[in-house]
Amino acid sequence: MSRSIDIAPISGALGAEISGIDLTQGLTPDALKTVKKAFLDYHVIFFRDQENLTPDRQKAFGQLFGSLNVHPYVAGMSEHPEVMEIIKEPEDKLNFGGGWHSDMSFQEYPALGSILYAVEVPSYGGDTLFSNQIAAYEALSEGMQTLLEGLTAVHSASREHSARGASAQSRKSMQAVEAENAPEFEHPVIRTHPESGRKGLYINPAFTLRFSGMTKRESKPLLDFLFDHARDERFTCRFRWRPNSVAFWDNRCCWHYALNDYPGERRHMRRVTVNGDRPI
Ligand code: SIN
Repeated sequence: MSRSIDIAPISGALGAEISGIDLTQGLTPDALKTVKKAFLDYHVIFFRDQENLTPDRQKAFGQLFGSLNVHPYVAGMSEHPEVMEIIKEPEDKLNFGGGWHSDMSFQEYPALGSILYAVEVPSYGGDTLFSNQIAAYEALSEGMQTLLEGLTAVHSASREHSARGASAQSRKSMQAVEAENAPEFEHPVIRTHPESGRKGLYINPAFTLRFSGMTKRESKPLLDFLFDHARDERFTCRFRWRPNSVAFWDNRCCWHYALNDYPGERRHMRRVTVNGDRPI
């Protein structure tokens, strides 16, 4: 007998928990249709109690949405290069993803989505925050929306993954290379979601360096305003992890932030990242 699928929003802005789906088994066509719709409707979806989701099964779930990314600067598992282990050991000071960002916006073809599986979670803290960038865009005045419409921005991993950047420094527990000379790619500041057609902000504090054709100094005031606006709590949700929880977020229209509030505790996650298209 198949279990009934239930979808429960976790905040008014984005995010829903889906029950009645077992990702450790293949999805029926109906279940896949429901998951795809919920992903577009809620931008980030969560599944609980996915006991022993193997790297192969996690990859198989990701492949239902597209090809898988191999991170250029952070090593994946030796047998599964597309699976990144995100580990913070009790003695690590910084964590991976500890700032608002959209995964892989520093690539020419940034990520469609990321699937994060909790192997081990701290006894307190370690939640992940998400922010809806469609809602952030829609809350801007018409004047600001018009001003941003024609702008593109330069994205690169050169700061975040540099020797001084949080993502390179943080952990002996993850193997990362420095990306001082990482390439720069330009993406529109307002992105049209390729599936829903909705417009959203597509810049982020980790990887967006400046507006195209402007200096960093010229770009800073408006970028700072937009970064501040885009993380306003009315656009956000917060997910409390348990072992065997899974989150699947849409990087085309969401930011996320891994909170670093569990000193002395261990957190171990596995991420599979689905490739996306070039933002327009
Ligand atoms: C990430 O940025 O992919 C990590 C998110 C998390 O560990 O909660």
